[in-house]
Amino acid sequence: MCGIIGYIGTKRARDILLTGLKRMEYRGYDSAGIATIEEDKVVSTRSVGNVSGLVEILKSKTHKGMAGIGHTRWATHGAPSEANAHPHTSGKVTLVHNGIFENYQEYKTALEQAGRKFHSQTDSEVLAALIDFEYENEINPRIAITNALKKVRGTFGLAILFEDQPDMIAVARRSSPLLIAKNGSAVFIASDQYALAGHASNATVLQDDEIAICRADNFEVFSMNDYPVGKEILKITASEESIGKDGYEHFMQKEIFEQPQSIQRTLSGRINKPLGTSQLGGINLTPKQLRGVKSMIFVGCGTAYYAGLLAKYLLEPIVKIPISVEVASEFRYRSVALNGNELSVVISQSGETADTIACVEELQLKGIPVLGVVNVVGSSIARLVDGGIYLHAGPEISVASTKAFSSQVTALLLLGIYLARQRDLNLGDGQELLEQLEALPKIIEEVLKIEKEIKVAARKFAKLPHLMALGRDLLYPVSLEIVLKIKELTYIPASAYPAGEMKHGPNALLSPEMGVIYLHGEGPLSEKSVSNLAEVRARKAQLLIFTDTEIDASKDEIVIKLPKSSHFAQGIIFTVAGQLLAYHMAIALDRNVDKPRNLAKSVTVE
Ligand code: F6R
Repeated sequence: MCGIIGYIGTKRARDILLTGLKRMEYRGYDSAGIATIEEDKVVSTRSVGNVSGLVEILKSKTHKGMAGIGHTRWATHGAPSEANAHPHTSGKVTLVHNGIFENYQEYKTALEQAGRKFHSQTDSEVLAALIDFEYENEINPRIAITNALKKVRGTFGLAILFEDQPDMIAVARRSSPLLIAKNGSAVFIASDQYALAGHASNATVLQDDEIAICRADNFEVFSMNDYPVGKEILKITASEESIGKDGYEHFMQKEIFEQPQSIQRTLSGRINKPLGTSQLGGINLTPKQLRGVKSMIFVGCGTAYYAGLLAKYLLEPIVKIPISVEVASEFRYRSVALNGNELSVVISQSGETADTIACVEELQLKGIPVLGVVNVVGSSIARLVDGGIYLHAGPEISVASTKAFSSQVTALLLLGIYLARQRDLNLGDGQELLEQLEALPKIIEEVLKIEKEIKVAARKFAKLPHLMALGRDLLYPVSLEIVLKIKELTYIPASAYPAGEMKHGPNALLSPEMGVIYLHGEGPLSEKSVSNLAEVRARKAQLLIFTDTEIDASKDEIVIKLPKSSHFAQGIIFTVAGQLLAYHMAIALDRNVDKPRNLAKSVTVE
């Protein structure tokens, strides 16, 4: 989603801003721009499309200023166009804005009546005009910003230049991340820690309703009530190397292949073999409190939601308490029946997903403890929750989530083993489940070895107009995750069903034009799965079968054999095969693998 970068120091801001924007490209965007202060005027350059396009335009423009702001925009109000791209200028104020100014229309009308002209369809330009309007009557820019922001309903991460204040950049935040880092005689501002990699090792995390005034030699943070506030420091863990492709063609491919190591990191230091349980330092709940938990609620969006669904299938039989899995955008508005003995777990790679954050607030308001299963250290969710488990999966740059999924499932399984051992699970069974987790990295390596075979199947299936994935038991959530990857990467309409559900309607879709990715796993429902497969065959759909067991197949069907694995590993193994399938289908169709159309890496608006 939108990215903000800012710089004030002793070097020309332009190139630093452009590098920062490039680092945030993975988040997804449709236009980009920068503005720098040149003595007493602000110079802006904006363009539709990617940062390379902006760089081309900048070849014929001069930006000499040593203070500037930049932005990658993902359209919300108004289509992608140069006029709608940030920065936006109104009077003396130029700003970049992440978030949504919900009541902007009301102020737009009032400002138009006061004679102001608008050049874009955005809420952000109205915000620039509102701040400028306040600045006409208030000499202190920080107070003018405060006066304007007190009128705003919605969310913002803002970096603001004032044409007559060339030695400062103001920043402000409400529910949209912003970091400020000082290094020698320069101050950097960014909405994403990857943009700061290599520039600083620590950053201050701006909190909601805080405003900072940044100058080359220092910055100060104030609350909107006009008093200086304490600053929370984040260690920047992203390095320039960690955000490279390491010789892979795409970040997605790199991240798929990294899974043996990322899972290893999720497990590292968390297995207590002698006691047959997990050790989770950041849960912040006493064993007694955890023993009192009567049910669990997992909450997430997209892939994170499916990770929760797979974990539910695996954990309910061993923890022996009900687990419900909720889509965050629904859960946040629903009247939910709670008895107060729940433990909730919010799952989020980025830790910045707006709907998931709203669920944390909702659950905490209802007195339900909230744990976070989060990848990005110091992210908004990580700071809001009562406790949690970091994934330590490393930066996930590809918009389509892969290694975060396998680490999310792994982290939830660690939590489940901990709770199960407090209940009925005996020592031996606990140890056996931990061994299943420990074996995960090796077995994933086995799946990665069959990439070539999957690539051949991908080329064939990429030509089909419609696709469906089917699975039973724990392979049903896996089918949902595989189909999500296929949809977002290939744009082919695809759906997923529990295989046993087909005769209740979806069978009508089956024909020789339909490609069916059938997940057939060894397990208690294996025989039933064979019967469901026969139903698909009878309707002559084209079949690609992933299986970890023996199966008879005709010569027109593609069968890809996956390694036999444990119960805990099976879902992840099939998912990795599906990730490779989606990846190679996208390549066959010449799609933008790391940045699929219409999507952003972290969805910080509702
Ligand atoms: C799909 C994908 C999304 C995210 C979802 C939640 O490949 O990446 O569905 O899983 O937007 O994001 P996080 O985990 O950052 O909360």
